[in-house]
Amino acid sequence: MELLLIQSQEHETLPLAELKAVLATEEIECEIETITFGLVLLKSLNKEDFYKNYKILAIRLAYNHEIHELISRTDINNSEENDDIVDISNLENEFKSIDWNSYISKDFVVRIKRYEKVDIDTSAIERRLGHLVLTSSEHNETKSFKVNLTNPESFIRVVASKKEVLAGIEKYKINKKHFQELKPHKRPFFYPGSMSPKLARCMVNLSHVKEGQLLLDPFCGTGGILIEGAMIRAKLVGSDINWKMKNGTLINLNHCSNLDYFEITDKDYEAHHIDVRELKLYEKVDAVVTDPPYGISTSTGGYQSKEIFHQFLESIGYNMKENAYLCIAHPHYLNFDSMLDDLDFELLERHSIKMHKSLTRIISVIRKK
Ligand SMILES: C[S@@+](CC[C@H](N)C(=O)[O-])C[C@H]1O[C@@H](n2cnc3c(N)ncnc32)[C@H](O)[C@@H]1O
Repeated sequence: MELLLIQSQEHETLPLAELKAVLATEEIECEIETITFGLVLLKSLNKEDFYKNYKILAIRLAYNHEIHELISRTDINNSEENDDIVDISNLENEFKSIDWNSYISKDFVVRIKRYEKVDIDTSAIERRLGHLVLTSSEHNETKSFKVNLTNPESFIRVVASKKEVLAGIEKYKINKKHFQELKPHKRPFFYPGSMSPKLARCMVNLSHVKEGQLLLDPFCGTGGILIEGAMIRAKLVGSDINWKMKNGTLINLNHCSNLDYFEITDKDYEAHHIDVRELKLYEKVDAVVTDPPYGISTSTGGYQSKEIFHQFLESIGYNMKENAYLCIAHPHYLNFDSMLDDLDFELLERHSIKMHKSLTRIISVIRKK
């Protein structure tokens, strides 16, 4: 069975890296095919766990817009005389033969998304394909479908690239509500410098942390990273040199525990007021995700950021289990590769995000040896 993923195109490497990390973390075996930038197919997925894994991906992924169960994949017949004429008759024939009863029970909509600037009349094709689905239900005595353009029960997604068209049906919607509702300035405790919830979630995913495992942010600030850890039901430990931040993290996590889409209670998180260089937790953690101060806008407690990074790396290893991941954001001008060489860490991957002219944020994924 196959899943069709419409990924965010806001970053070149993070969406795919995040997907690969979640597949590995959740032990979802499959083959990954990138159809074109932003469009990915997961092939040979195990039938028994298909819907369970589909749901996990929909819950976890940040840089992903839609996930669909693939129902059809056909070639486009490009006209020999004119390359611009796109013929999707193969897809239309498939639409005629699909048993739509197994996908639709009440109403539906067909929506097309174009890739690689393929030149097609999307509304005309949506109408044509919708008509084919409707016609198929006319022969059915028990069910007849309706088109619902605004709030359909079944959503049929068609994606067209220059070479092929794929169609899928959406069984689980990706819930992006909290990315909007819990933006840093909308949380009860706010302090500037908290990264976007989406990037925080992506970093949590890159850390390979699983539901029920222990996630630490030793520069927790207002708790933005821990909130994303809560969304995937990890157990959370935060710490910060500033007691106001430590309290702010607790205020924000407590707020989340009262929201219906969070399943955490006050037993699932704790926060400490401590300098990371003195942090010695009783229980070693499964993953560390963090955004230390860059020495520009966030407090460094009076120390140079390079010095803090080095000391942080030295002390954090103590608190991590063997093979635990550390996903860390840092400025481009801070080269700590030489520091890793001396310590028991290996660098696994690195992504850069241009913030403005003089700052590129680097996301490094590191594993304790
Ligand atoms: C960039 S902010 C973290 C933002 C956080 N991710 C959030 O969502 O708000 C860095 C935090 O590191 C804390 N900090 C600075 N030096 C520290 C140290 N030596 N040990 C622990 N925390 C420190 C600061 O108080 C600040 O809250």
